[in-house]
Amino acid sequence: MNRRIDVSLTVNGEKVSRSVDTRTHLIDFLRSELGLTGAHTACEHGVCGACTVRVDGDAVRGCLVMAASLDGAVVETIEGLSDTGEIRDLQAAFVARNASQCGYCTPGMLVSAADILKHAPNASRDDIREHISGNYCRCTGYQAIVDAIDDVLKARRESEAA
Ligand code: FES
Ligand code: FES
Repeated sequence: MNRRIDVSLTVNGEKVSRSVDTRTHLIDFLRSELGLTGAHTACEHGVCGACTVRVDGDAVRGCLVMAASLDGAVVETIEGLSDTGEIRDLQAAFVARNASQCGYCTPGMLVSAADILKHAPNASRDDIREHISGNYCRCTGYQAIVDAIDDVLKARRESEAA
């Protein structure tokens, strides 16, 4: 039996109101309903991190969250984080370090990396590895990704100390 629920939420700073099927996951709502295709689907059961987005300030897996549960929530996707400039330095570091190859994991990886920048500004390289351990990358071997995040953490710390 199909059941629909009305939800109103904020996505990348804009108010969105929709009637959603209770079986719809956030990642599918974002991609199919709102056309925000930056976050990807892959495993669809919470393992790979390709679908990572932010809900109420925290990184979550879009394939594990039901859209119907998000009435009143604030959702940010890679498009929003890019548009605000919040991760401009992180994106530049990924380019400089060649931390993205096929790019499939990159949106989710950037949202997880932004979570480190936000919540763990003093993270060590081991902390970075631990934090992104739920984001699978099949191309880079992770070293370049850790380098890029570490570069940004150090640069931000230096700029705050100056
Ligand atoms: S698609 Fe969500 S964790 Fe893999
Ligand atoms: S760059 Fe290809 S999966 Fe990460």
